[in-house]
Amino acid sequence: PVLVVDFGAQYAQLIARRVREAHLYSEVVPHTMPAQEILAKNPAAIVLSGGPSSVYADGAPELDAALLDAGVPVFGICYGFQAMVGALGGTVEHTGLREYGATQAQIEDTASTLFNGQPPEQSVWMSHGDSASKAPEGLRVTATTPGAAVAAIEDDERKLYGVQWHPEVMHSTFGQRVLENFLLRGAGLEADWTPKAMVEELVEDVRERVGDARAICALSGGVDSSVAGALVQRAIGDQLTCVFVDHGLLRAGEAEQVKQDFVDATGVDLVVIDAADQFLDALAGVSDPEQKRKIIGREFIRVFEQAARDVVTDRGDEQHPVKFLVQGTLYPDVVESGGGTGAANIKSHHNVGGLPDDLQFTLVEPLRLLFKDEVRQVGTELGVPDGIVQRQPFPGPGLGIRIVGEVTRERLSILRAADLIAREELTAAGLDGEIWQCPVVLLADVRSVGVQGDGRTYGHPIVLRPVSSEDAMTADWTRLPYDVLARISGRITNEVPDVNRVVLDVTSKPPGTIEWE
Ligand code: XMP
Repeated sequence: PVLVVDFGAQYAQLIARRVREAHLYSEVVPHTMPAQEILAKNPAAIVLSGGPSSVYADGAPELDAALLDAGVPVFGICYGFQAMVGALGGTVEHTGLREYGATQAQIEDTASTLFNGQPPEQSVWMSHGDSASKAPEGLRVTATTPGAAVAAIEDDERKLYGVQWHPEVMHSTFGQRVLENFLLRGAGLEADWTPKAMVEELVEDVRERVGDARAICALSGGVDSSVAGALVQRAIGDQLTCVFVDHGLLRAGEAEQVKQDFVDATGVDLVVIDAADQFLDALAGVSDPEQKRKIIGREFIRVFEQAARDVVTDRGDEQHPVKFLVQGTLYPDVVESGGGTGAANIKSHHNVGGLPDDLQFTLVEPLRLLFKDEVRQVGTELGVPDGIVQRQPFPGPGLGIRIVGEVTRERLSILRAADLIAREELTAAGLDGEIWQCPVVLLADVRSVGVQGDGRTYGHPIVLRPVSSEDAMTADWTRLPYDVLARISGRITNEVPDVNRVVLDVTSKPPGTIEWE
C-alpha cells in the first residue's frame, strides 16, 4: 500500500482518498507507529501528512529518519515536509510569520518530477507557521511562494519529495497532479486499484475470515450495508442471512422498498423484523443525542442476537451458529468515531461507537477502509442496481436523530410526513443528483407561533438541511432554487399538522455536522 503517516491533522484521510483517486491503494497509519513497523507493512510509497502548526511546538510529533533511508519513496506535505527538511539536515525557521490560505507558487522547474507538465505559476493552499529556509543537501528547490523560500524539494536519486502546501485540497489547483506525479513518476507506481481489483481482494478477505461459519448482515437498505451484504454474499453464498430491522425510525415507504429492490437484485436470504415497539420503548424519555445513539445501537444488537439464534433454529443447523455480524461501516465512520488515529470522537455512529461491550459476534466490516465513492464502485461491480448504489445516505439511527428532543410515535409521524414531501419535491425538481442528502429535522422541543387558517397556532419548526459533499467528511449547504424551497415549505406547512414553520440550515461542515444530532 501507499501509507499516509498521520501527523495529527484532519487532512490525512483526505490524502488517503486522493491517493486512491489516483487508483492506488492507501492506508493511514499513526505517526506513533515505530518506523520498523511502518516499513514492515512493505509500503510502496510513504506520504507524510500535515500536522500541528509548528515543528517547534511542545510535543510536536517527530519523524524517524529511518523512514527516509529505507529506499521507499517519500512525499512530505506541510508539516511532513518540514519534518523531512529538518530530519535531512535542512533548516526550518521559527519565523512566527503565518501563511494561511490561497497563495501563488512559483515553479522553478516545470520539467521536474512533481511539476512536469504544469504551468510555472499555480495557486496553492497554505497553512503553516514555520518555514524551511535552507534545503537539505542533495535536494533541489523546485518551487517558492511569497512566504516560503523553500516551498518544494525533490531528489530523484533517493526518491524524496515534498511541498510546503496542501496538494490534497481543492484550492491547490494542480494538487492532484502533483500528488499523481509523485506516485506515478517519482515512486514509479502502477495505478492498479480498480473496482474489479477491490472486489477480488475484499471477497478473498471475507472468505478467509469467515471460513465455513454462518454470518448475518445488518441491512439498512442504504448503500453501505447493501454493498457489504452483496459482497459477503459473493464470498460465502448462503452462509449469509440478511436481517432488516424495522426500528420504527424509518422514513415512509422504506421497509417495502428495501424488500423489493434488494432481494430482487441479489436474491439474498432476507429476514425482516418488526421491532418498533422495542426501540421506541427504549427511547422513551431520552433526548440526549449520544444516549439515543447508544440505545439504538444496543437494541440493534439485541435484535440481531435473537435473529441469529432464530436463523440457526429455522435451518435446523445447530452445528453452525452465527459467528459473524456483517456491517457496512465506512472509513469516515471509523475515523469520526475515534477509531482512526488520534482523531476526536465526534459522534458515536451506531455501527461503530455504539456497540455494547459484550458483543456476541465477531464483526465483519468489509468496507471499513473504503470511501463512499469506492463503495459505490464496488456495488456496481457486484451488480447491485443503480437505484441502491446511488441512493442518498440515511443514518442507521434513522429519524431517531432527526427529532431534536424525545422521540415519540406522534413526532415520528409528523417528521415522516414532512420528510416525504421534501423528498418528493426534490426528486420532482430533478435535484437528487445534485445533493448529497437532505436531512429533514423536527425541532420537537421548540415551538413557534403561526397563523394558519383563521387562527393562531403554536407549532413546531421543520429544518431542511440540504448538503453537497464528496464523502461526508466535509460538506457545504446546497443552494437549492428558491422556487423548490418555496414549494417544499408551502406543502409542509399546509399538509403536515403541527408544523407552522420551515427553516433552512445554511451551515457548512465543519462547523456543523450534517445531521443535527
Ligand atoms: P454527520 O452528521 O456526522 O454525518 O456529519 C455524516 C454522514 O454520516 C451519516 N450518519 C450516520 N450513518 N450511522 C450511520 O450509518 C450513524 O450513526 C450516523 N450518523 C450520521 C449522515 O447521514 C451523513 O451522511
